[in-house]
Amino acid sequence: MTDAAHRTPIVRLAPAKLNLTLALVGRRDDGLHDLHSVLVPLALHDILTVAPAGTTGGDTLHVAGRDAGPLDDNLVLRAISAARAAVGEGPGRPPTPPLAARLEKRIPVAAGLGGGSSDAAAAIDAALDAWGATDALDPARRQAVAASVGSDAPFFLAGGPALVEGRGDQVTRLTGIRGHPGILLVTPAVAVRTPDVFAIFDGSHGAGGGDGSVRMTSAHLAQELGNGLSAADLVARAGVLASANDLLASAALVAPGLVQVRRALTRLLGRPIGLSGSGPTLWTLYPSLGEAEGAAVTVENAIADGTVPSIGDGRASIIPTTIRTGQEGAST
Ligand code: C5P
Repeated sequence: MTDAAHRTPIVRLAPAKLNLTLALVGRRDDGLHDLHSVLVPLALHDILTVAPAGTTGGDTLHVAGRDAGPLDDNLVLRAISAARAAVGEGPGRPPTPPLAARLEKRIPVAAGLGGGSSDAAAAIDAALDAWGATDALDPARRQAVAASVGSDAPFFLAGGPALVEGRGDQVTRLTGIRGHPGILLVTPAVAVRTPDVFAIFDGSHGAGGGDGSVRMTSAHLAQELGNGLSAADLVARAGVLASANDLLASAALVAPGLVQVRRALTRLLGRPIGLSGSGPTLWTLYPSLGEAEGAAVTVENAIADGTVPSIGDGRASIIPTTIRTGQEGAST
């Protein structure tokens, strides 16, 4: 790469994720949990732009769009620092000058959609590119840097649906979704802190994991997605997937109104409603984007007339999107 190319802003799309399954296998010595989760990236994305900032000062970040909280806590800046530390300094190492990052935040924040981790994975990739240092870290080292920033970040380096195990650092790509299943996301405006949800789970399960049924569903889906599954086949499994999340009951305790919203959406749409990660985002599967868009209008109207309760202190985000299968062109 030339010096001129280094100065060209690097643009990365940072997709949201959805947990089609989330099994908690057991508590680890480091206090985190071993997981077994089938994750898919979504067409919904943030946009990260990174360029060299000049010669002095530190890295900077400007966020537009949704409120992403304090800049000091933002995973983009932490990811750039972690990538710089991993590249290292000295003879033979590429220079890692300060970067100016701009993040357009479209993914609901703290919603169970992995936006922060995805921004972090995109930042690692973009920073290495901006420094002309893409060869400085092999894939395993990149994965380790990503895992040090956020448990979901290694998944986003995989570029498609994947089985995620361990604390989130063991990622196996699953190549078998055919077509573009539609997804309707409904994110109520309630704060659900991930550590709180895990803590409630621990309170009722001790050091153990879930009861094993979610783990079985998750293993079965991973096998099926390894072999090949059409959008229609995936939708046909929505009933079992919608309850394949070991954090469902704990999330409902952190955000009590979530149960009523989920029940109202089930009645309204006549479809199973799942929870992504530790919530509060609820999801419904459709065979296509068009059907998810139609359902979004139905939900908007139902929230407006009170059929679906509004909880928290703002409007729910209602977003129709699609699953990214990893087979799309890089520009979509
Ligand atoms: O790594 P990250 O900051 O995304 O994790 C947020 C929280 O989720 C952790 O503090 C922990 O409470 C919980 N967690 C967990 N086991 C994992 C991943 C996350 O207990 N494998």
